[in-house]
Amino acid sequence: MSRPVILLTGASRGLGAAAAREAAAQGCDLVINARNAERLEAVAEACRAYGAAVITVPGDIGDAHTAQAAVEAARAHFGRLDALIHNAGVLPPIAPIAQADLDAWEQAWRVNFFAAVALLRAALPILRESRGRVVLVSSGAAIHPYPTWGAYCTAKAALNHLAAVLAAEEPQVTALAFRPGVVDTDMQAQIREQGAGVMPPKLHAKFIAYQQQGRLEAPEVVARPLIAAALRAPHAWSGHFVAYYDEEVQALLKDHP
Ligand SMILES: NC(=O)c1ccc[n+]([C@@H]2O[C@H](COP(=O)([O-])OP(=O)(O)OC[C@H]3O[C@@H](n4cnc5c(N)ncnc54)[C@H](OP(=O)(O)O)[C@@H]3O)[C@@H](O)[C@H]2O)c1
Repeated sequence: MSRPVILLTGASRGLGAAAAREAAAQGCDLVINARNAERLEAVAEACRAYGAAVITVPGDIGDAHTAQAAVEAARAHFGRLDALIHNAGVLPPIAPIAQADLDAWEQAWRVNFFAAVALLRAALPILRESRGRVVLVSSGAAIHPYPTWGAYCTAKAALNHLAAVLAAEEPQVTALAFRPGVVDTDMQAQIREQGAGVMPPKLHAKFIAYQQQGRLEAPEVVARPLIAAALRAPHAWSGHFVAYYDEEVQALLKDHP
């Protein structure tokens, strides 16, 4: 059987970098994207050490040309695509709606949401062929209205519904929105640093406490169920919003070291 091919965005650091390494360790080949070409190449090298073939497509995924190029790379180099994971995400602008900077909102939506649409438009023909899976990395913020996180919360809520509409439209693919929990990455550092004095104090204190109490999950811990979902989620889940800690999601890890 040929090796599964995964296209993964936001793979230069954080959850995406851990997911790339996990996929490689699980015997997948990869197309990976992020803006920082040097860091992306370092992740690619780590994946190649597991025997994976890895193509890097550096660039802003908010630009539809980058999304198109990433899918083209999968088609040209591997001739197939088994899973698309849109993991790239940005939190800012952190500000109340009353002070919304529309350009900043649009930029956030480009990366968090429109990139997924551009990736899907390009990838659906080959995903149908492989009866592949789509995992849109979402957030608890999709269902919790955190003050000052309007751009992020709304884009993640839209991603959840995108997975649902996709499931209704595309019977040959399995589409999920995925909740990674609270992960020890740069995004959490950004909340602690840039959220001070802007986020409501109680909400900001909650995120400080996550770190102080050691409640942030290591990216590697969340990467395992993320890749398991991308490779093995049953079609019956299509359209659902699943969390990494859900029992059914954790059950996908059984028998897979
Ligand atoms: N950390 C958490 O607690 C948490 C909780 C819920 C949901 N999430 C979600 O999980 C996903 C991964 O987050 P993370 O915590 O790993 O964040 P992170 O450490 O900030 O990493 C974000 C990744 O996205 C890439 N990225 C950002 N803007 C991009 C752009 N315009 N084009 C291409 N790539 C871009 C970054 O690479 P470059 O800078 O090199 O482009 C990086 O690889 C995100 O969708 C996030 O919303 C995280």
